[in-house]
Amino acid sequence: MTPLHDLHSRGFASDNYSGIHPEILDAIVEANGAHQIAYGEDVYTARLHEVFASHFGEGVEAFPVFNGTGANVIGLQSMLPRWGAVICASTAHINTDEAGAPERVAGLKLLPVSTPNGKLTPELIDQEAWGWGDEHRAQPLAVSITQTTELGTAYTVDEVRAIADHAHERGMKLHMDGARISNAAATLGVPLRAFTRDAGVDVLSFGGTKNGLMLGECVLVLNPEASTGLTYLRKLNMQLASKMRFVSAQFIALLEGDLWLQNAGHANAMAAKLRAALEQGVTDASITGLSFSQPTESNAVFAILPPGVADRLRESFRFYDWNPATGEVRWMCGFDTTEDDIDAFIAAVKQELAAG
Ligand SMILES: Cc1ncc(COP(=O)(O)O)c(C=O)c1O
Repeated sequence: MTPLHDLHSRGFASDNYSGIHPEILDAIVEANGAHQIAYGEDVYTARLHEVFASHFGEGVEAFPVFNGTGANVIGLQSMLPRWGAVICASTAHINTDEAGAPERVAGLKLLPVSTPNGKLTPELIDQEAWGWGDEHRAQPLAVSITQTTELGTAYTVDEVRAIADHAHERGMKLHMDGARISNAAATLGVPLRAFTRDAGVDVLSFGGTKNGLMLGECVLVLNPEASTGLTYLRKLNMQLASKMRFVSAQFIALLEGDLWLQNAGHANAMAAKLRAALEQGVTDASITGLSFSQPTESNAVFAILPPGVADRLRESFRFYDWNPATGEVRWMCGFDTTEDDIDAFIAAVKQELAAG
């Protein structure tokens, strides 16, 4: 087959727009051929458990799945009874971008809370953490946080621990949507377990797709007492891959060495470069009309543009409006974003802002 798209064209729409990292593609090829037992009884999935144990410690249970929505839905479902409710930020992917799957498929009520920056705090959690024992209220039995958040911000280790302690003291469990967990580790400069298992996270959706995999995420049970039934929930929710060896092989290639950190660190560095260059332009007044709506703590830059500029920029670079009412846009970098991509985009932003 000849390629149907321009192999040199990259934009800033999403870290999901990228292709597969070559080492991950090699891992799929190497795991190919002959026969292996289906549905996760293969040697690659067995090895994957060891690889996750090397990052998170013994006793962690790993359930590879197809996608992040599936990971969140079955992870949360395994944590809560049918009458349970999940406190989350209003911007959480589970609230805004999963087509209601946590509520319709898992049957769980979400209790969203507005935040300034995508991050919950104990105080914000308390807006919805009440009404236990009231038969009229869905019972708040879990908190879900996203790391890094949908607004590109990152919880510190202490912030996660404070939320975990607060939730646990009130009989609630803590779920983390880690679609961009590697970006969080890269920005915090700490091991993966420092802000997850060691900080009190019970169940983690471990992201792979945005960090170089073709597809695949993994539900990690960090506290086995907080989760039940995943063995059955994965199939029940159509997330059990028959040829699981190929999902597992990708994760092995990502996590056995430091590819996960290299990829995420690079994506973060590209966003930092973009932010720094534009911010410098604002400071020295070579750029006017641009402001930033969130700090850049991972691989996303959130900016506010004057009317018309975003549409003109999009003629050359894809990216999403975040809030059309305010002119807020999101620029995402990925493991495959190059310095040249950033330089070309900075030049285009300057040119379109100058054009007014
Ligand atoms: C925060 C977050 N969680 C989960 C996901 C995974 O979603 P999907 O079901 O598309 O893999 C995404 C993808 O955009 C995300 O940004």
